[in-house]
Amino acid sequence: MQTKMTELFGIKYPIMCGGMLWLCKPDLCAAISNAGGLGNITAANYDSGKEFREAVRITKNLTDRPFSVNITLMPSFRISQQTYDQYFQICCEEKVAAIEVSGKPAQEYIGMVHEAGVKIMHKVGAVRHAVNCEKLGYDAVIAAGIEEGGHPLNDDVSTMVLTPRIADTVKIPVITTGGIADGRGLAAALALGADGVMMATRFIATHECLVHPNIKDEILKRQENETTLITKSIGMQGRALKNALVEEILNIEKNGDTSKLWPLLTGQRVKEAWQTGDVSAAAFYVGQSIGLVNNVLSCAQLLDGMVEQAAQILRNNQEMF
Ligand SMILES: Cc1cc2nc3c(=O)[nH]c(=O)nc-3n(C[C@H](O)[C@H](O)[C@H](O)COP(=O)(O)O)c2cc1C
Repeated sequence: MQTKMTELFGIKYPIMCGGMLWLCKPDLCAAISNAGGLGNITAANYDSGKEFREAVRITKNLTDRPFSVNITLMPSFRISQQTYDQYFQICCEEKVAAIEVSGKPAQEYIGMVHEAGVKIMHKVGAVRHAVNCEKLGYDAVIAAGIEEGGHPLNDDVSTMVLTPRIADTVKIPVITTGGIADGRGLAAALALGADGVMMATRFIATHECLVHPNIKDEILKRQENETTLITKSIGMQGRALKNALVEEILNIEKNGDTSKLWPLLTGQRVKEAWQTGDVSAAAFYVGQSIGLVNNVLSCAQLLDGMVEQAAQILRNNQEMF
């Protein structure tokens, strides 16, 4: 399955993993790349450049295939500007295949990144942002619909509409994300004009994702109507799994005292909950795609199966005419 995305990154399948704080670490990243996709290391897992470089080097020992790094440019109490600079610098020095940026545009880094031969893409939720990325010299954009886990843009446009709108507007490759978890989603994305897909929630239910087994069980149990949008009131909309803590967050937002939100939203709380498997202890960012996840597979099984299913659908559709 050759597309502009597979050509851009030198990968076998047009499937990549999106950044996931605390989850996208060397084991999962290398497993996805070894399976033919583009794995992901999320830089914000690491408080210093030194730790981040170590993670990149560990990944290089686990795979000789291309992988990407997520750098989320959002206000952070934990990560300083100097550390953000180091993330980009280290990606260039270590010559990772690609950087996935989210949040603020990374225009000040693009020249340096290209000089190092590294590709750079940005996750966007609006046509106007995709156009801006193309102008700034990004190599690709990721069209992220409101279905996605993490922080969908508060334009609230669905993947189904956003993907063809962006594909019709920019010339650079378009990767789509939000609501994709199987070969049907991949076939649909290609039909909508995308060059490939990004998934995140689906990769949590893989053998190589090192979260507590309780979390994987919970992901299998929950359905597409069991996520909700939180923290719109503080300009940081997020899609999270419904639980008692998320209900408390929504109540605080309704009552207007948003200063009470911060202790409930700390990264530390989420980090611990992924490890202990306490499914009510944190607001877990997951996408509506959770409804499509009903087994735990290896990354190789997942990617091979997806591509086979997508190819079959696309072939069957040709036979219809
Ligand atoms: C647990 C989790 C953590 C995430 N953390 C980040 C992050 O740190 N930075 C980022 O840009 N996106 C993050 N995302 C968003 C994903 O990269 C991706 O855009 C989105 O989840 C795709 O939708 P899907 O989960 O339905 O596949 C996260 C998603 C999940 C599920």
